[in-house]
Amino acid sequence: MGAEGIRVEKVSGRIARLCEKTANGASVPGSTGIGHTRWATHGAPTDINAHPHLSNDGRFAIVHNGIIENYLALREELIADGYVFRSETDTETIVHLLEKYYDGDIKTAVMKTAARLEGSYALGILCADAPDTLYAVRQASPLILGIGVGENYFASDVTALVAHTKNVIYLEDGEIAMLTPKSIQVFDCTGKLIQKPISRVTWRKGGYEHFMLKEIMEQPAAVKAALAPRLHDGEIRLDDFELSAEKLRSVNKIVITACGSAYYAGCSGRYAIEKLCRIPVQVELASELRYGEPMVDEHTLVLVLSQSGETADTIAALKECRERGATIIGIVNVVGSTIAKLADHTLYTWAGPEIAVATTKGYTTQLAVLYLFALYAAEKLGRLQKAEYSALVHSLKMLPKRLQETIDMNYQIPALAGRYTSQSLFFIGRNTDYAVALEGALKMKEISYLHAESYAAGELKHGTIALIDEGQPVIAVCCNEALCDKTLSNIVEVKARGAKVLALAFRGNRKIVSQADDVIFIPRIETIFSAALAVVPLQLLAYYAAKEKGCDIDKPKNLAKSVTVE
Ligand code: M6R
Repeated sequence: MGAEGIRVEKVSGRIARLCEKTANGASVPGSTGIGHTRWATHGAPTDINAHPHLSNDGRFAIVHNGIIENYLALREELIADGYVFRSETDTETIVHLLEKYYDGDIKTAVMKTAARLEGSYALGILCADAPDTLYAVRQASPLILGIGVGENYFASDVTALVAHTKNVIYLEDGEIAMLTPKSIQVFDCTGKLIQKPISRVTWRKGGYEHFMLKEIMEQPAAVKAALAPRLHDGEIRLDDFELSAEKLRSVNKIVITACGSAYYAGCSGRYAIEKLCRIPVQVELASELRYGEPMVDEHTLVLVLSQSGETADTIAALKECRERGATIIGIVNVVGSTIAKLADHTLYTWAGPEIAVATTKGYTTQLAVLYLFALYAAEKLGRLQKAEYSALVHSLKMLPKRLQETIDMNYQIPALAGRYTSQSLFFIGRNTDYAVALEGALKMKEISYLHAESYAAGELKHGTIALIDEGQPVIAVCCNEALCDKTLSNIVEVKARGAKVLALAFRGNRKIVSQADDVIFIPRIETIFSAALAVVPLQLLAYYAAKEKGCDIDKPKNLAKSVTVE
């Protein structure tokens, strides 16, 4: 907003294009502004569909993160009222509602508009009649206010604010904020002024070039933070709730649901839970489960995994399962997040803030909590001998130390990244190793933009082996020693077709040295816990591949830290 009122500049594509178009913002002078990188939900990613959207009278401009579920009905109503739509977005209905309800009082117009919206939204609102004021309101979509000196901000993710201020206010559902350069006021949904606590964000890269590398290195401490409060004198205690033996005996199925890396953590966790508890575990992508009429009931325990606690698909899957009577345990990092609030019980992963878009310590701490859960439930169910239980608890307690050893012994990864990441890659493994391969391939794809596929090693011969040619890099995870000979045969098969193989195995595994071209070693640990160690070299491999390619490691293209829209 400048002297001539609201001016809108928007382009499709990368933010760099907007910088170019506006001479890094210099061509749009003003003291108040809103912006949004749109994740196209309704309508193609075009200039016209980009945010901000303007009201017909040009008085209001808005940005919106989320989805308005009743937008079709609202659109019809607004068209009947004479409003003209310029875009295909659901968002545009909001700005016309603001115009409709505005009678000189912006806050009331915002409240009336919010009351008409169904779905999720974090809204930033600018009105030409109050050039120095911004309004923000949220429902089921994160919104954080940043307190500066002579300037204030809002954003849908705290990472966007840390370069400007460390003092923030987390808005709750239904709350409305009014920001001027010198003040922030927050109102509840009835318009009553409320006091909000100020939180201090204390993140620094701590000398690392990227947050991702810092977070990889923080994994020993993060996993310790996840485990330590729950390990007491060789016993596991969950936080503020107990699952009685009777409750656990009534469970005939465990469903783990999540998205992305959290889903892959669930794939690893499944092996630990099934092996120790002998309860069938189904791991479901939340985006599938939410529409899959899930077969869950009051005898199902659902573990909902999410670093952010705000992933839209995961929240929807949680709600579907809860409606059918399942008990929900949230395994979440962000304290007070939506999933933490919706779950019957929450186990925090205590990883601390994770800034890099690609999760690392978020994933390993999810594994740590899943391992704790598996052991806890197995003990309650009487599935483990005392000695076996004690040995496994001890092994789990050693996980942070083993993680540090894993980092320390893998100084050669930058050189290996140079040799193995010049083209698309295959990640193979069996059972627990396959679960790690899935996460390794995802890490590679998301930050280095190299195509990477993971396959259960035994599946290669059912088709994929046709793609193995001279020089094809194959990363073979071989930490599950019971299946190592089987995976070795797969290594031999791909090598016979010209592949170059980088294997990942426990220290001391001699067989693997004779077959693979290169080997990455990790310390020995119980197989069911091995994913937490094996993933670390794969994270580093992806990191150094991305670095070599000059990629934007902490903020990979097309990705957001929390995927708060469907
Ligand atoms: O916050 P969540 O754990 O629910 O996020 C789930 C996925 O969006 C997330 O793990 C995503 O796959 C990451 N970019 C992976 O690094």
